Amino acid sequence: MGDINLISALKWRYATKKMNGNQIPQEQLENILEAVHLAPSSFGLAPFTVVVVKDPAIKAALLPHCYNQPQITGSSALLVFAPWKNITVQHVDEYMAEIASTRGIPVETLAEFSGMLKGKVSNTPAADLHTWAAKQAYIALGFGLVAAALEKIDSTPMEGFNPAGVDEVLGLDKKGLASACILALGYRNAENDYLANATKVRRSKAEFFIQ
Ligand SMILES: Cc1cc2nc3c(=O)[nH]c(=O)nc-3n(C[C@H](O)[C@H](O)[C@H](O)COP(=O)(O)O)c2cc1C
Repeated sequence: MGDINLISALKWRYATKKMNGNQIPQEQLENILEAVHLAPSSFGLAPFTVVVVKDPAIKAALLPHCYNQPQITGSSALLVFAPWKNITVQHVDEYMAEIASTRGIPVETLAEFSGMLKGKVSNTPAADLHTWAAKQAYIALGFGLVAAALEKIDSTPMEGFNPAGVDEVLGLDKKGLASACILALGYRNAENDYLANATKVRRSKAEFFIQ
């Protein structure tokens, strides 16, 4: 049986174009971050980092690189999803060590899994690995969107920005990261947002699903 609260939250949410600048409670932000953190990823590697931006000065610096979209400065927080530019065997080793310590098992028991993952990482071109990492980041973006809706926090998923500019402002390049998408979190400015009361547009389920 479907969860009616989930569906009504998803009907309530919309890609907010104008936010009112009010701050969201830290506890609710933490819940959204926790949902993002719990997102699944291929092999569990989670090859991306999420930068949380709350500082108004940094948001202002990001604005021109985001086509001056007002959600950037009107938000309470921005989550910048930044896939790793390179995935290396060292990342795999670190991940294996994390599994071993979390589950209290000898790292040697993970040799087969580790070898398989290292093979993939070593035999895939860096650009393809980056695309793969970005796909994982988008799943986490989705988790953040759903969590925000359940918290009754407005949000905007965004890829309307110049990644090079955003990377420069946030110093991502030297951290081996490259921005892929942003989740703006805050509260809708309903009076000034033409989409606040607009009916959702989706293709009919008959067309959307083959079943
Ligand atoms: C990956 C992605 C990138 C998007 N980029 C932007 C953006 O830069 N600015 C914006 O206002 N909306 C952006 N959107 C929002 C979409 O336009 C919106 O989700 C879509 O029109 C469906 O409307 P709804 O989310 O209100 O249901 C983006 C959505 C996704 C999923």
